[in-house]
Amino acid sequence: MKFDTPATQNPIDQLKVVGHGVDRIDGPLKTTGTAPYAYERHDVAPQAAVGYVLGAAIGKGRIGSMDIEAARRAPGVLAVVTAQNAGKLGKGKMNTAKLLGGPDIEHYHQAIALVVAENLEQARAASRLIRVQYERAQGKFDLAAQKSATDKAGKNEPKEDRVGDFESAYAQAAIKIDHTYTTPDQSHAMMEPHASTAMWEGDALTVWTSNQMVAWGRGDVARTLGVPREKVRLISPYVGGGFGAKLFVRADAVLAALGARAAGRPVKVALQRPLIANNTTHRPATIQRVRIGTTQDGKITAIGHESWSGDLPGGQPEEAVQQTRLLYAGANRLTALNLMELNLPEGNAMRAPGEAPGLMALEIAVDEMAEAAGLDPVEFRVRNDTQVDPSKPDRPFSQRRLIECLRLGADHFGWADRSPRPGSRREGRWLVGLGVAAAFRNNLVTDSAARVRLDAAGQVIVETDMTDIGTGSYTIIAQTAAEMLGVPLAKVIVRLGDSTFPVSAGSGGQWGANSSTAGVYAACDKLRAAILQRLGFASDGAVFADGMVTDANGRQATLRDAAAGGDLVAEDKLEFGDLDKKFQQSTFGAHFVEVAVDAATGETRIRRMLAVCAAGRILNPKTARSQVIGAMTMGVGAALMEELAVDDRVGYFVNHDLASYEVPVHADIPSQEVIFLDETDPVSSPMKAKGVGELGLCGVGAAIANAIYNATGVRVRDYPVTLDKLL
Ligand code: MOS
Repeated sequence: MKFDTPATQNPIDQLKVVGHGVDRIDGPLKTTGTAPYAYERHDVAPQAAVGYVLGAAIGKGRIGSMDIEAARRAPGVLAVVTAQNAGKLGKGKMNTAKLLGGPDIEHYHQAIALVVAENLEQARAASRLIRVQYERAQGKFDLAAQKSATDKAGKNEPKEDRVGDFESAYAQAAIKIDHTYTTPDQSHAMMEPHASTAMWEGDALTVWTSNQMVAWGRGDVARTLGVPREKVRLISPYVGGGFGAKLFVRADAVLAALGARAAGRPVKVALQRPLIANNTTHRPATIQRVRIGTTQDGKITAIGHESWSGDLPGGQPEEAVQQTRLLYAGANRLTALNLMELNLPEGNAMRAPGEAPGLMALEIAVDEMAEAAGLDPVEFRVRNDTQVDPSKPDRPFSQRRLIECLRLGADHFGWADRSPRPGSRREGRWLVGLGVAAAFRNNLVTDSAARVRLDAAGQVIVETDMTDIGTGSYTIIAQTAAEMLGVPLAKVIVRLGDSTFPVSAGSGGQWGANSSTAGVYAACDKLRAAILQRLGFASDGAVFADGMVTDANGRQATLRDAAAGGDLVAEDKLEFGDLDKKFQQSTFGAHFVEVAVDAATGETRIRRMLAVCAAGRILNPKTARSQVIGAMTMGVGAALMEELAVDDRVGYFVNHDLASYEVPVHADIPSQEVIFLDETDPVSSPMKAKGVGELGLCGVGAAIANAIYNATGVRVRDYPVTLDKLL
């Protein structure tokens, strides 16, 4: 099904099942511990041996020599895999560094060996017997130092995007600000580590893995191992958190496959927790300069946002300026990305890549600008709204209700009680402040396919390689099929995360919910046609409800009757056309936060949070709310705690475990509220839904920093806002 004109009325609009906050259909499996995760496939791979990964102990250089003999002879050891004995390996499209390093080492904790043994203890003990001699090379590990060296040498080569004449407009602006903000390297810190169980049957490989994007993963496992794609099956039905860490195949999958080949047995590998931060990807640190100039009455005439981030050779910049191209009006604009070469572990996507760190800077700058212009921060944002893409005035937003998010949130949160004078509200030892920030994230869409089967019992079985990373995919897909075919939710069985199923959008970039359900919509639409044809019913105007189908001539049959002569199966793909060219599709929101800061110690407590989101049709308000409050909690981490500390002599992240890389939990925050604006976006898909899982994170950090400023009068521009920066 091609989607190239805005959606009109369709069966989803009935909202008998879609749009209801039903419980997760996979909830009982999760809460009873019976959902099979990748490392626990005793059911299908009962004899799996265990792999333990050895990571490189240098940040850059080479392995001079490596002695694995003692490890090989250690008790229980079945195989030791290294780059020397693994055969020729390729590289995945989505990987910057090799997943099995040696002799060259590209980053700290790059895997250099897998020890396979009968059990974890034996594998771990044997790994300690591997003797490695390294030849260290000089690496570049300090972003700020690289930036100043590049500045000094006049060697910045920014990827710029310009509208109008930023420099003159900024020079002439009546009121202006110019500040630099920094965000640190961050780790996804999902609960389930990267984990895989691999099994060979002849030359065919099955990998049960924890991965967000099954089709990408299948391709990259094949590319890395140099085997045909058709010979690789990837299975990822349950994922214990991803946040972007599992968009790509990592060492666990590739090493499990190599280990299984070497040991002649299924092998399972879970990356050890202390290895994950340096072995896998992370959100790169940024340095961001924001300049804004306004007229005397606070209308933006010039807005400039430049970002610097680093990555390994061949890597990508963190796109921290994306939102600044679209969020506020202003005739003269400059955005620029600068990429520094660093030899730290690989940078890549983490929840809302680009916008999450970008808004942490931009939305403090906007708060500073509002103050300089003598305007309330809500009022300032309202005044600078735009209904079109500022770089292409004939390109409207498909929906843009940022102003309503701000106004409704302000009302609901009691914004009117905020004192505009920082540091003026005190309750005992606590300085209390309120902060606001806009939330913005583009709404990406990705082609998505599904297969739907109707059987003689009247059951509907949906199959697609879509993943559920804790987001609720199973549930919204079941709701979509139930709505389309007029059956109760209990009649729908959803099977996900298997590369033998049709290729879906996968879970990433907050495109998963809207795109994958749209694929299910397309397959169900085809199945409806097949049902009508089987029954000899009129093809137009049929109604599917209560397990019955009624055609335009009033003829009726049950779905069981329709399938009595054999199962009916339909498969289709929702292909997104070029509506994206005519409309800018984005999601919007507003975050409000109340903090209390201990006047003596500088300790910050979050008291209340509110997010108002405008993200198209909300397919399931319960799972969507969970996404948003999870994101808000993650935003608290970004604002107050999260920072991978770089040792710039050795080139690694020092705090590489969950004891030293701290993240908050919901229970740390007494009150979190979410309001969804009641909207549909016919430009987004037949579902008229959009993404919300990343939107919830966008802007939170700045709202907290702004609240801390309002509470204390201390403006911190370097995240995380730890207490030492407030004293
Ligand atoms: Mo998201 S960072 O695309 O999982």
